[in-house]
Amino acid sequence: MIKIAPSILASDFSNLEKEIKEVEAGGADYIHVDVMDGHFVPNITIGPLIVESIRPKTNLPLDVHLMIENPDQYVEEFVKAGADIITVHQETSPHLHRTIQLIKSYDVKAGVVINPATPAESIKPILEEVDLVLLMTVNPGFGGQSFISSVLPKIKQIDTWRKENNYSYEIEIDGGVNKETAKWCTEAGADVLVAGSAVFNQEDRKQAIDEIKQSI
Ligand code: DX5
Ligand code: ZN
Repeated sequence: MIKIAPSILASDFSNLEKEIKEVEAGGADYIHVDVMDGHFVPNITIGPLIVESIRPKTNLPLDVHLMIENPDQYVEEFVKAGADIITVHQETSPHLHRTIQLIKSYDVKAGVVINPATPAESIKPILEEVDLVLLMTVNPGFGGQSFISSVLPKIKQIDTWRKENNYSYEIEIDGGVNKETAKWCTEAGADVLVAGSAVFNQEDRKQAIDEIKQSI
């Protein structure tokens, strides 16, 4: 069963509780939280305070995507705020193994992310340690960008390595996912689809989620 993780980046921040409850009622599986620092990516978004305030409003796992430099420094704060899954970029983590171990030491799920231009090989040594691999299908920083389809072979590669080695990580795709592109991702081996604008830019969130699920 494919999971849908609506990204609240595209939601109405002045009505965050209502937005989250709507996607939860509409069949979302995770709430995807995009944390940006204005350094690693050219945008500033959500910090631990927001994560803490949305935590009691939903039963869904909070999937926290850290697009920040020096993620080690903030892992504990996001755990305390209520994150269930924390993903860090390979590009921001020179000591990736240490960072993944740090996340796991708090008993939350640890994921690694790579940008569209970063090769799958760069995370091969860490695959046995992670609970989730997040593959960016846009350059991180903004919602509403177009899906970069040259990432599709990378999804296949990560899925092939999972099968060959009996690994159990989930493969999550982030960026430009909609009812047209979702099927390409799941056919290549994806299990979790992040969808920001495809869900929150539609009046009826349940219908938006249903349409993505049905398109697969
Ligand atoms: C991009 C973020 C994405 C973004 C996806 O940097 O990581 O999660 O919110 O938005 P859409 O689905 O609109 O491409
Ligand atoms: Zn994201």
